[in-house]
Amino acid sequence: MFEVLPQLPADPILGLSTAFKADTNPAKIDLGVGVYKDENGRTPILNSVIKAQQILLQKEDSKTYITPQGVQGFIDGMLQLLLGNSHPALLADRISAVQAPGGCGALRILAELIKRSNGETTVWVSDPTWANHIPLIGNAGLKIETYPYFDKAAAGINFEGMISALKQVKKGDVVLLHACCHNPTGADLTNEQWQQVLEAAKEREFIPFVDIAYLGFGDGLEEDSYGLRLLCENLPEVLVAASCSKNFGLYRERVGLAAIVTQSADQRKIVQSQIQAIARGIYSMPPSYGGALVDIILHDDALKAEWQNEVSEMRTRMQSLRALLVSKLQEKGASKDFSFINEQKGMFSFLCISPEQVIKMRDDFSVYFVDSSRVNIAGISTENVDYLAEALVSVL
Ligand code: LMR
Repeated sequence: MFEVLPQLPADPILGLSTAFKADTNPAKIDLGVGVYKDENGRTPILNSVIKAQQILLQKEDSKTYITPQGVQGFIDGMLQLLLGNSHPALLADRISAVQAPGGCGALRILAELIKRSNGETTVWVSDPTWANHIPLIGNAGLKIETYPYFDKAAAGINFEGMISALKQVKKGDVVLLHACCHNPTGADLTNEQWQQVLEAAKEREFIPFVDIAYLGFGDGLEEDSYGLRLLCENLPEVLVAASCSKNFGLYRERVGLAAIVTQSADQRKIVQSQIQAIARGIYSMPPSYGGALVDIILHDDALKAEWQNEVSEMRTRMQSLRALLVSKLQEKGASKDFSFINEQKGMFSFLCISPEQVIKMRDDFSVYFVDSSRVNIAGISTENVDYLAEALVSVL
């Protein structure tokens, strides 16, 4: 039966970890997969998470099934975190939501929901977008098109190109937007640009699908949800996929949220029944553990404050690493101006170098990052930054 199947190449992002592990160069640097790392290159368990684990160990008294919608306290806590306590869509009971196995699970549930609602829908994604958006959404059977987003030559957003493309989108189509810390470019919309996206959505009647995987890593927990809150407040329907992998450091626990702003409380009930049936038809119910930890953290004032501080520490460390890399590149005499790295947000930067230069960085210097020239800023340290800057200057 399986002899008809071809061997597939390694995943463009996850495959980098395997290649990195196999590399014997002691100076090697891993700037590939998007995981936060501390100065020692470790991905720590957050202290707030360790404390929540201890509480859960005391409190959990059964391993029986949870429901397809997941841990209700997690869902409530996440919706408040994303939208604030008094968001009109929440107060009007217009939001359906399920806990999902990671942000990926959330994206897939929402793609399946779109497919059930209208299989002819086109989903518009930014050019470029996170590589895994394409299979996650496309494998649900939806057509994907791209809108311009990033101008490599100018190392910034091509907003004119983006907005004029969005003004051509068909009524009922879906537009995938990154709420903050755009993956892979790190180039985010300003608040003013979000307003214009809102106007385009109203004018063309497209449905925004907001992926929020890096909340808190850009400018702050409140600031990073500006665009999301704006769209959810002013539009009848919005799809939201959130991840707790990065900001809670719960990567392997697979914890995310799929939420849908619907037109009315009645519609909410119908959509809720649909997403639960979708979850049941794929994996029955999400893993409970990560959601239970987030529930504990978000409902305990002291733990929540500790978690907020930890997010803020991760964010400021990444901001200072950006500044460090830019100054090292200048110091080593880079022929290109990399100051745009300081303007980019979150975990990723697009170095805007060619694929050949990216391969040279890997082959000649054992510095691993995605072919598009996306680097994980958190993989830089005071130890490796000189080597990294020298390698970059050399391949330029
Ligand atoms: C990334 O973009 O590197 C992360 O979101 C990990 C992944 O699954 O690709």
